[in-house]
Amino acid sequence: MEASLTARDRVGIQDFVLLDNYTSESAFLDNLRKRSHENLIYTYIGTLLVSVNPYKELDIYSKKQMDTYMGVNFFELPPHIYALADNVFRTMQSEYNNHFILISGESGAGKTEASKKILQFYAVSCPSTKLLNNVRDRLLLSNPVLEAFGNAKTLKNDNSSRFGKYMDIQFDHQGGAVGGHILSYLLEKSRVVHQNHGERNFHIFYQLVEGGEEDLLRWLGLERNCQHYRYLVQGDCAKVSSINDKSDWKMVRKALSVIEFSESDIENLFAIIASVLHLGNVKFEADVRGYASLNNNQEMHWLLGIPTQVLQQGLTHRKIEAKTEEVLSPFSVDHAVYARDALAKAIYGRTFNWLVNKINESLANKDSSRKTVIGLLDIYGFEVFNVNSFEQFCINYCNEKLQQLFIQLTLKSEQEEYEMEGIEWEPVPYFNNKIICDLVEEKHRGIIALLDEECLRPGEATDLTLLEKMEEEIGGHPHFVTHKLADKKTRKTLERGDFRLLHYAGEVTYCVVGFLDKNNDLLYRNGKEVISFNFYCKKQVVTQFKSSLVGLTEILMSKEPWYVRCIKPNEAKQPGRFDDVLVRHQVKYLGLMEHLRVRRAGFAYRRKYDIFLQRYKPLCPDTWPNWRGTAAEGVQRLIKHLGYKPDEYKMGRTKIFIRHPRTLFATEDAFQICKHRLATRIQAKYKGYRVKGDYLKQREAATKIENCWRGLMARKEREKRAWASLILFLRFIKGFMTRNQPSCNDNSEYLAYVRTNYLTRLRDNLPRTVLEKDAWLTAPPILFNLLEIKYLYLLFCFPCFQLLLKEQTSSMFKGKKENYPFSVCKLTSELTFRLRPLFLSAVTSCVCVSLPQYSVPVVKYDRNGFRPRLRQLIFTQEAAYLVEETKIKQRIDYSSLKGMSVSNLSDNFLILHVTCDDIKQKGDLVLQCDYLFEALTKLCVIANKQNYIKVVQGSVRFDIQPGREGFVDFKSGQESMVYRAKNGHLMVVSPGQNISGSACSSDLV
Ligand SMILES: Nc1ncnc2c1ncn2[C@@H]1O[C@H](COP(=O)(O)OP(=O)(O)O)[C@@H](O)[C@H]1O
Ligand SMILES: [Mg+2]
Repeated sequence: MEASLTARDRVGIQDFVLLDNYTSESAFLDNLRKRSHENLIYTYIGTLLVSVNPYKELDIYSKKQMDTYMGVNFFELPPHIYALADNVFRTMQSEYNNHFILISGESGAGKTEASKKILQFYAVSCPSTKLLNNVRDRLLLSNPVLEAFGNAKTLKNDNSSRFGKYMDIQFDHQGGAVGGHILSYLLEKSRVVHQNHGERNFHIFYQLVEGGEEDLLRWLGLERNCQHYRYLVQGDCAKVSSINDKSDWKMVRKALSVIEFSESDIENLFAIIASVLHLGNVKFEADVRGYASLNNNQEMHWLLGIPTQVLQQGLTHRKIEAKTEEVLSPFSVDHAVYARDALAKAIYGRTFNWLVNKINESLANKDSSRKTVIGLLDIYGFEVFNVNSFEQFCINYCNEKLQQLFIQLTLKSEQEEYEMEGIEWEPVPYFNNKIICDLVEEKHRGIIALLDEECLRPGEATDLTLLEKMEEEIGGHPHFVTHKLADKKTRKTLERGDFRLLHYAGEVTYCVVGFLDKNNDLLYRNGKEVISFNFYCKKQVVTQFKSSLVGLTEILMSKEPWYVRCIKPNEAKQPGRFDDVLVRHQVKYLGLMEHLRVRRAGFAYRRKYDIFLQRYKPLCPDTWPNWRGTAAEGVQRLIKHLGYKPDEYKMGRTKIFIRHPRTLFATEDAFQICKHRLATRIQAKYKGYRVKGDYLKQREAATKIENCWRGLMARKEREKRAWASLILFLRFIKGFMTRNQPSCNDNSEYLAYVRTNYLTRLRDNLPRTVLEKDAWLTAPPILFNLLEIKYLYLLFCFPCFQLLLKEQTSSMFKGKKENYPFSVCKLTSELTFRLRPLFLSAVTSCVCVSLPQYSVPVVKYDRNGFRPRLRQLIFTQEAAYLVEETKIKQRIDYSSLKGMSVSNLSDNFLILHVTCDDIKQKGDLVLQCDYLFEALTKLCVIANKQNYIKVVQGSVRFDIQPGREGFVDFKSGQESMVYRAKNGHLMVVSPGQNISGSACSSDLV
């Protein structure tokens, strides 16, 4: 995008705003010439499009081209009429306001072509539905119909519009073309009866004669030969190579049916056209008195269905009202011809208006919802002929008005806007043509006022008296000259009956002859009887035209303007020829240099703060989604975030002004990207919302089903329970009644209940000792049997035994060994066998010898060298065994157990002292046991050696074998360690523990 904005185009530059020497007309012309030689017919001045007529078909209007320009930023692609059309459309869509495209330029410069291209673009680019396509077709096809009736071949253009056309295209809020309306201005009716050499009448006459079906022609009394009709041959060029009347006829017929003209409407329409041709052939002869007469004129037969007598009288006589009487005054032949032509013009003019109204009916959108509008104004360009008459005067006046509008809307309003916005402005000098508009249209003094006055005043008013009057009234005006008023030099260029206006576009000399008649445009009084409606217009033609122009100006002023300036490169309608003088002239009167100067001095883009903010606020986190402050502050924050440089923009009072298009487009592009992101988010939110809604509905439904199901199940359960409780109750009663009988089916449940009940109560009210037999709850009689007592024993005495053991341990170790308090909790264990898996079989084998009472894993230290070995210590009723896997390593009869030593520290070592008489016998056992207190207590109880335990301090001596002793030294340290000290003793280090500070101390301890 940047590239197309700043880089020079292949030939010349594509936007005059980027022209280095932008004040030079020659540089402007050079660029235009260069480009048009390369068939680059479009060039921008900002958003204004300059179009040079190529006079040949270019391959730039294809559907592909349309697609390329659709929805693309204006300056992104090479200039094109499609870019302008697309930009107008999108601005209308986004800002929801009305626009118009003013297409101006000389006759033959390409205005009508441009307006057609725009219409075609909308036909393709706008959304389409069946209904919209219908409207679209009518909009498109209204063109060939209007062109057939309103266009003609002139010297300048083979398809010259001989009327001004303003067309509104109405769009609904989605951008669909839903309707249209056409206004026509000042049809050049004089062409019906007269054409200059090399020119033709309106196309429709030739189309009808050349293309009309045989039947139709016969019915209309026409012959297929244009040469037969006087109204068609005055220009002497009924046939033109560039025009194919036959195919155009077909097109018009098709268009008429699409626009929904009824068959009878179409027939009548062509009957009127044929009548005009016949009328043209009506010949008058002078009778003996020199008056016009219409003897045996065959044409009369075909005319309008009017009684011949009435028509004849109407064409040859004039009705004069004298007081109460009406007198018929006969015409001379000249007068009669004049009356005939006037009638022909009037009929054609009315028919054209009727046609426009019919088309409007067909295009009208009856829906009252608000629509936006794009207006297309294709109006005759400035015209200068060798002899310029009333028509040129009106046309050029129209162009003056449009130039004035242009000045008001752009140049002037631009300056005023800058002033209003408080933005510094470098004044651009321009010629304000208001002075010429005033000269023409000023009340009482303007040319139009004088013309009307002259037409209406009593007495002999002629074109020359008009000229005199003008000289009298406006003789001193700087833009008005006549032969009489001119200086010597100028006088040579003027005829006596001429007046010259110095238009903004240049000088035009008008011949005053015919001004009054053309302005009156009236039929003689009884003309109205001829075609039964009132022809006599109360307003003069030029005044009507003036007021329709005022109306048009009002329509345009309420819309946003866009401009297409068409330039005609040569008079010869030849491709590739660029006539410098001709183009320079057009550049001047189209005001292009002034427009460029304004553009360069100013800013490419401006928008009200709120509109700008509304559009671009998603680009800044501070302004999105809502900005709380004023719009101007919001915009300031936004552009700061976007990084606009100070010279790229200016802040006005109500608008932001952006100097270069590139700044804007960077912003626009960022917005486009952002928009997609936002759309995705909104979409995601919406989808989430919808799915959540579905989910909630489903959940609600599921809950309902669940509730019903649960209710159903609960009701079933209740019934079941009610039934069950009845059964149970009956069984209970039966059980109670048979409670004293031996256990049987009837009472077993009841007895079980009684037993459970008793035992539960017993559990909560146990006697303190086994011996307190009286304190036991009295059991129900059924519980008094052996099994129950055993059961009770197991249930209650075993814990009591455990308590006895605890008491034993306490008496042996309490206050003597450091880690005793920590063992108290452990002692509650009811385990009898603490086994390493490996020792399981050993235990089993021991069991075979005699029943093991207790077993515990130990680490046994070799008497020589103190190597640790994993062993299991098993106590039976007679002896203790040290077992390795399945092997009994040492048996210690309790009778030979002479003592047991432990240290007072927190280690788990115990030394079992045995009596050994024989050297072959094994000596004392040095063991480490994690369940030291439990094991020792069990040993003491089983071996009945309660007083054999010695708690020693420092060191324990033991027998390795008879006569050889060893030592185990105990001491406190940081951490537990067992090692062979240098002195050959086994050193056992245990972490010191404070007996009195123990958290485990309790009453039981
Ligand atoms: N863009 C164009 N491409 C090709 N030919 C064109 C183009 N514009 C105008 N012409 C030619 O110029 C002729 C006159 O154009 P037209 O639009 O009728 O002029 P205007 O309406 O300004 O009097 C057309 O008939 C056509 O031959
Ligand atoms: Mg035209």
